[in-house]
Amino acid sequence: MASPAVDFARNNQPRFLDELKTLLRIPSISTLDEHKSDVQKAAEFVAADLRRIGMENVEIIPTKGHPLLYADWLHAEGKPTVLMYAHYDVQPPDPLDEWKTPPFEPTERNNNIYARGAVDDKGQLWMEVKALESLMQAHGGKLPINVKVIFEGEEEVGGESIAEYVRKQKAKLKADFALVCDTELFAPNLPTLCVGLRGLVYTEIEAFGAKTDLHSGMYGGAAPNPLFALVEIISKLKDSKGKVLIPGFYKDVKAPSKDELKAWKRLPFNEEHYRKTEVGSKVLTGEPGYSVLYRTWARPTLEVHGMPGGFVAPGAKTVIPAKASAKVSMRLVPNQDPVKIIKLVRRHLTKLCPPTVRMEIQSGHGAEPYLVSPKSPQAQAALRALKSAFGREPILMREGGSIPIVNVFKKTLGADALLVGLALPDDNAHSPNEKFDLGCFAKGQLMSAHLWRELTRL
Ligand code: BES
Ligand code: MN
Ligand code: MN
Repeated sequence: MASPAVDFARNNQPRFLDELKTLLRIPSISTLDEHKSDVQKAAEFVAADLRRIGMENVEIIPTKGHPLLYADWLHAEGKPTVLMYAHYDVQPPDPLDEWKTPPFEPTERNNNIYARGAVDDKGQLWMEVKALESLMQAHGGKLPINVKVIFEGEEEVGGESIAEYVRKQKAKLKADFALVCDTELFAPNLPTLCVGLRGLVYTEIEAFGAKTDLHSGMYGGAAPNPLFALVEIISKLKDSKGKVLIPGFYKDVKAPSKDELKAWKRLPFNEEHYRKTEVGSKVLTGEPGYSVLYRTWARPTLEVHGMPGGFVAPGAKTVIPAKASAKVSMRLVPNQDPVKIIKLVRRHLTKLCPPTVRMEIQSGHGAEPYLVSPKSPQAQAALRALKSAFGREPILMREGGSIPIVNVFKKTLGADALLVGLALPDDNAHSPNEKFDLGCFAKGQLMSAHLWRELTRL
């Protein structure tokens, strides 16, 4: 499509990329207190650009956690209103020594930009902002549809503040649908509409034994070891085949329809290639009888992320730790309810806890699973826009990750989410050497231009 907006975007890619690099240099790691001011800085950087391109009512909204960012442009009378969502916080970059170039020094290599947050989600956020800029520039400072922007700095830690804000500001945020660029393409150059996300329950289990760390020679045989107590507990949460052993855990699980499962079988997926190139392990794990796509998109799971406790520095130390903890999370699928699940988890953990230690369970953030119909007029418009931008028929998929706010948009605003992210499976989100394909960065802007034109016709 030769349109002024697309021309403007094409001519300005180098500048767009420079700006993205500036955003990527800000280490806005939402889970680490020492980076609190960096999350604020990222918000301010994005806010300044939204103001510059002509968005109105740009506002940085302080919260109990990290700030939110709101902006709008509401002069397209009679046209639909889109709520644009993305996040400017990132995950911690470690393990640092596995990065080829430092995580907060964005570097270009083979048409990719490497940095923490490159794809998740700063690169995709910037892609949306630059699409707005291009459309405004090309149409004398106007947009073809009404836009409300809501960006957050807390997605990677559960997004509690944005959820609270959306519930309080229903009228202000009212929109026909939400546009969310924070998901993946199924494969490079394969236009993808994501119709489902898994939910999440995050917990930290703490165990306390002796009053202080003890010499394991002097006290081993008499003093309880909380790290070992946790190992005992955790080993009983899931069997070796991947089945979660918490009573009632699977009760509300709703299987995908036959048609959906059939469609997944037609997707270009090679398990051996996936094992070798994406996972890079000797074998794959998981419940027998379910395909990899089924297991990662529509089956619930339980994982351990880390067990702080005892001596973890290089070298040996013979110590019985006084306390230890385990970070454990569960991915949920429709129709599991995070609140119900955490109750089941607590009850079961309490039962499993050996009498040698005292246990405390911190239930952290959660997210509800999400499933949306591709039949709505907006989803159909998105499918047409994807087709125009990529020149081929889009596919539908679910994804295994979670975006806590999408269900809140649905439940409080009645707005379905169009999940049209352009991450690639090998972009290393949350991993060392995270990257964003610059072709995708540009494609995303093109897709937006098409999408907005499609939406004006609804
Ligand atoms: N962008 C991801 C979610 C995602 C990943 C969607 C892969 C589709 C495919 C998001 O930033 C994320 O990582 N979410 C967290 C949420 C959690 C901390 C509440 C996640 O899924 O772990
Ligand atoms: Mn994300
Ligand atoms: Mn993420």
